[in-house]
Amino acid sequence: MKIYEQENQIYIKKAMERNGSNENETLRQKLDEIDWSILTNIEKKETVNERGVFAPLDAVETAEIEARKEEFQKIGMEAIRAGKVGAVLLAGGQGTRLGMDKPKGTINIGVKKELFLFEQLMYNLMEVTKEAGVPVPLYIMTSNINYDDTKSFFEEHAYFGYPKEFVLFFVQEMVPACDYEGRVYLSSDTDPAMSPNGNGGWFRSMLKAGLLEDLHRRKIEWLNVFAVDNCLQKIADPLFVGATIAYGRESGAKVVRKAAPDEKVGVLCTEDGRPSIVEYYEMTEEMATARKENGDLKYGFGVILNYLFSEKKLEEIAGAHMPIHVVEKKIPYVDTEGHDVKPEEPNGYKFETLVLDMVHMMENCLPYEVVREREFAPIKNLHGVDSLDSARELLTGCGIEI
Ligand code: UTP
Repeated sequence: MKIYEQENQIYIKKAMERNGSNENETLRQKLDEIDWSILTNIEKKETVNERGVFAPLDAVETAEIEARKEEFQKIGMEAIRAGKVGAVLLAGGQGTRLGMDKPKGTINIGVKKELFLFEQLMYNLMEVTKEAGVPVPLYIMTSNINYDDTKSFFEEHAYFGYPKEFVLFFVQEMVPACDYEGRVYLSSDTDPAMSPNGNGGWFRSMLKAGLLEDLHRRKIEWLNVFAVDNCLQKIADPLFVGATIAYGRESGAKVVRKAAPDEKVGVLCTEDGRPSIVEYYEMTEEMATARKENGDLKYGFGVILNYLFSEKKLEEIAGAHMPIHVVEKKIPYVDTEGHDVKPEEPNGYKFETLVLDMVHMMENCLPYEVVREREFAPIKNLHGVDSLDSARELLTGCGIEI
């Protein structure tokens, strides 16, 4: 049965009662284009995270990185100079916690001067490319909601001095959103409420956008994927690239040492022998507090959404199934009376694949320790934890003028 024929789909039903026949034709067409099997994930939402057996995974720690700095730097720089490293900026999220209606990267993180988040990220990248003497191709993922705004922001600011031909945009897919009973929300009487499908589909979206040819033409062997919101992020970091290659791994993940056993971060470990990320709420107290002989936590390193993946491996796994996470979010919608509602609290489900599930598809992964105060300043909220306020403090602490 078509979604608009189902009795329980009250938002669609009421909109169709309000619409004329042309509008209904438009709405039906849009609804027919959607793969509704995605809604079955609601029943499976408790089991999507059914897990295997976890075990600790040793990281390459700062002391070792310091001791092998020259070696890692040399290997990493060689790869960058040979054009083997590309970067992927994940900027398709909606930043609902920040409550912005523009792309998150356009936020002004400056205090005394204007400094945009995108701008700071480009400066971070340019620190590496200046030293390397070659640009690193940067692929930017947006959603179709923020594509125009993102692209024109870069245009208006002349790509912050970066060579334009090394910045490529691509768009991620959209999926429908619904209320807690699986009733599909509409964003207008002729449009289903669609939202970006999470940050896990980025490579597939790159392929869909025809970028495989570009990767091959440029002979890219490694992709460094990172989130838009960490303004202290090092991009295409030669030490990280060099360490991952030196260890012979097909992926790497930047990690920070946990501040306390109960800190709310996803921890890099193994699951049934493969690299994996265990969420803080999935850890037993015993796991969270287990210590090594030297007193360090066994599950002691949290991920910061900065990964390095072998391009070849990404191609191999591109067709594999990824778990779909059902996440509670604030979804603007048209209610049964035809009024626009902008909820203050989460009011339904979005469906997302997550980049962290990609790590589990790798044979191996190198957890690479970075110093939190130097490389991790995420902006998720305006104030409080992981906020614009805390990021500004951290930037200042790193001697960056803002
Ligand atoms: P978050 O999980 O913080 O999500 O994204 P968000 O949508 O930006 O923010 P909230 O939860 O609504 O407040 C982590 C990273 O993944 C990207 C984001 O842009 C950010 O860099 N992302 C997230 C995507 O690229 N696409 C998505 O569909 C979701």
